[in-house]
Formats: sequence, structure tokens, C-alpha cells
Amino acid sequence: MKKYVGLITAGVLSIGMLAGCNNANGANAKSSKTLVMGTSADYKPYEYVDTTKSDKIIGFDIDLANELAKRTGYKIEVKDLDFNSLITAMKGGKVDMVMAGMNATPERKQNADFTQPYFSDKNEVIVKKGSNIKSLADLKGKTIGVQAGTVQESIAKAVAKKGGYTVQNRNRVPELIEELKAGRFDAVIIEQSVAAGYLNNLKDLNGVLINDFIDNTTGSAIAFPKNSQLTPKFNEAITEVKKDGTLNKLVKKWFGISK
Ligand code: ARG
Repeated sequence: MKKYVGLITAGVLSIGMLAGCNNANGANAKSSKTLVMGTSADYKPYEYVDTTKSDKIIGFDIDLANELAKRTGYKIEVKDLDFNSLITAMKGGKVDMVMAGMNATPERKQNADFTQPYFSDKNEVIVKKGSNIKSLADLKGKTIGVQAGTVQESIAKAVAKKGGYTVQNRNRVPELIEELKAGRFDAVIIEQSVAAGYLNNLKDLNGVLINDFIDNTTGSAIAFPKNSQLTPKFNEAITEVKKDGTLNKLVKKWFGISK
């Protein structure tokens, strides 16, 4: 009897161990081959919900994630969080990876590993038509809105002293646009590809490129937990999709341009 119990225990233990090994990072207990991808689905065309069609999160990052997962033998499950909490969620094991038009900045690299960049964008300042804001000097005394935890927030804050404006953050990009329309913000800084969507639809808004803010040298990359074995695997897959034209196809599909 004692022996029997021992055997069962050993059996359960090894099944548990196997399950533990197969599970990439522990964020997802359902299936070993599914990676939970954290994103902030407020960023069309990178990741967003087209509410007129369904509540599914779609976009460039989602397509690319699925393509890379297919090539590395995984499935992707998308989880929507505020941008500001993505790296923390990954550190806490709530998501296995982060893909959110996220730049591999030196600060973030202290808490995550990044793949090579797969897309680069630049910052644009969105204002109301007729606002006369065209340069840094015009922003003096104004209020600028940025998404919390983004590169745009860092840049806006870094230039604030010189520019003499106030910076306010919000968790979600559509909130920035609402506040701009309502006149609580005089300008918002978002990336050009995202701004394009708003500028197309909202004719009372204008986009200006102001040199002090443009800098986006690092490019979007995928974040994984520190020392994850997935980073080299996905890096290889990114090299592949760059070489065989798949990445370019996706860029064309979602951004309407080829790079
Ligand atoms: N590229 C910027 C950054 O890395 C902003 C990304 C915002 N992404 C989003 N899904 N809202 O900070």
C-alpha cells in the first residue's frame, strides 16, 4: 500500500513537472504551446478593436505575432491591458510576452529582454485646426497630453523645461484625442502611423512635426521576460519574415506603405 501511494505521488509529480517544463513562462496554464501576449489595444493600426465588426483585437502586431508564433510553434492569446502596466504584468507572470508598438528603450531593457526591432515610427504633434501651434516656441504655457508610460511621455517631459508647457498623461490614446477635442489639451503627441487614422477621420485636427519631439530611434520590438529562451527564437523568426517579404506584406496591409 505504501509503495502504491509512493508510485502515485511520483506519477503526479512527474506530470506536474512536465506541465511545468512545457509551459513557457507560467502565465498560461491552459496549454503549453499558447503564449499570452500583453498589448494595449488602443493603438490603431498596431492593435485595436473595430467595434463595428466584433470585439476581437486586431492589427499589425496581432498579425505579426501570429505569424511569428506559427513559425516558432506557438499559439497566441491576446490580453488587453493599459500600456503603462504591460512590463509589470509580464514581470508578474500574467503575460508571457508584450507586443504593443513598444520601443526597446534602455529603461525598459532593465526589466525585459527585447527582440530586434520590426517597425519604426516617429512622433507627431496633433493640434486643433486653427491653433497656430507649429513649433516648440508656440507650446509655451500650453498643456500637452501623452499616453502614460510611453516614449512620448518621456520626450514631452524631457523637453518641458525648454518648451515651458505642462505635460499630462492618460492611460489610453482615445482619451487623449477626446481631451484635445474638448480643449483641455492644446496638443497631444502620438506616433505618426496612429495619428494618421485620427487625421483622416477628424477633419478639425492637424498634425505637425516638431523636431524636438520626433526622435524615435529604437523601433518597435517584442518584449520577453529577462533571459527567456523565446527571445532568440522570435528573433530568428523576425529575421525570416524580414527576408522573405512577409513583414513587408503586413506593413503594407496595416500601414498602407512598404518600408
Ligand atoms: N512606441 C511608444 C512606446 O514604446 C508608444 C507605444 C504605445 N502603444 C500602445 N499600444 N498604446 O512607448
